[in-house]
Amino acid sequence: MTTTTTTKDTAPAVPEREPVLDARGVTMRFGGLTAVRDVNLTVNSGEIVGLIGPNGAGKTTFFNCLTGLYIPTEGEVRYKGNVLPPKSFKVTDAGIARTFQNIRLFSNMTVLENVLVGRHTRMKEGLWSALLRLPGFKKAEAEAETRALELLEFIGLKHKADHLAKNLPYGEQRKLEIARALASDPGLILLDEPTAGMNPQETRAAEELIFAIRDMGVAVLVIEHDMRFIFNLCDRVAVLVQGEKLLEGDSQTVQSDERVIAAYLGEPFEGAPGEEEVAEVEAAEAAAEEAAAEEATDTDADPEPSGADEATDAATDSTETAAEDTPKAPGSGKENDA
Ligand SMILES: Nc1ncnc2c1ncn2[C@@H]1O[C@H](COP(=O)(O)OP(=O)(O)OP(=O)(O)O)[C@@H](O)[C@H]1O
Ligand SMILES: [Mg+2]
Repeated sequence: MTTTTTTKDTAPAVPEREPVLDARGVTMRFGGLTAVRDVNLTVNSGEIVGLIGPNGAGKTTFFNCLTGLYIPTEGEVRYKGNVLPPKSFKVTDAGIARTFQNIRLFSNMTVLENVLVGRHTRMKEGLWSALLRLPGFKKAEAEAETRALELLEFIGLKHKADHLAKNLPYGEQRKLEIARALASDPGLILLDEPTAGMNPQETRAAEELIFAIRDMGVAVLVIEHDMRFIFNLCDRVAVLVQGEKLLEGDSQTVQSDERVIAAYLGEPFEGAPGEEEVAEVEAAEAAAEEAAAEEATDTDADPEPSGADEATDAATDSTETAAEDTPKAPGSGKENDA
């Protein structure tokens, strides 16, 4: 499968947008705490919708209500017009896939095996067929593997199909989770902080990947703290604050809302996302390499290369600053999903 990506502007014309997800009046209480209060949200076919809000706003809890992990205290969730069953495997079966804020991979299984686990829900062969390895099962197994490899190619990890998941760098583990979710052939994918822990380059690549997923015909609902990522990517953005939907609108409307600016941005969001940070990171890396090279030279000439150490430290500091340049809400990346 080739990865052809489009941006928001060049998205293929969708003949008619129909609701894929329709959440009405979703409320989730934990004892005295109302984590989600009366939230309505619709995601239509062909759309990428963002869900933002400060830490503890109820975003992950809302996802858990959509995917059968929690049974909402009140409200109703429909997928393509049908009320969802309150069991997560049935929700996956119905067509909603998700990734988790805390990566949940089978770390001692290979990359390919992790995707095959995601494919399992679409395999119709029964237990006996599997145990006896009947021809039908072997055929289904071969088809599942072909599809899994296609998905690995799509996310750019086919060359690591036989690596153990635990040996992948963090950014690739996040991508693998996406491939595993896609293996269930969903009509809607829910992504909970897909770029947490990624560097700016990986984040830009994740953006392209999500556009490509949308172009495959999978609607997307995404939680993120990275505002550039969200506003570049999403057709619509909903803002959750203390469990309630504060507002919802297109990226332009939401990013210029004073309450959102105050909570998140400090100043209005503008500029070409990514390029600046990429340049800064590259410059910092080059400086670090140069400093390391100087240190090596100094070590030959001078047994106490204290100045070079400082130069390396300074370069490392500037790398960190550049990586943190993308606006993030305070404490983003905190992992507390159920
Ligand atoms: N199982 C649970 N039992 C009790 N309280 C919970 C449970 N799950 C979440 N909460 C509480 O619900 C509130 C919302 O948490 P949630 O994890 O949904 O926030 P979030 O918006 O995803 O935050 P973050 O951006 O940090 O991931 C928090 O106060 C949290 O402590
Ligand atoms: Mg969360």
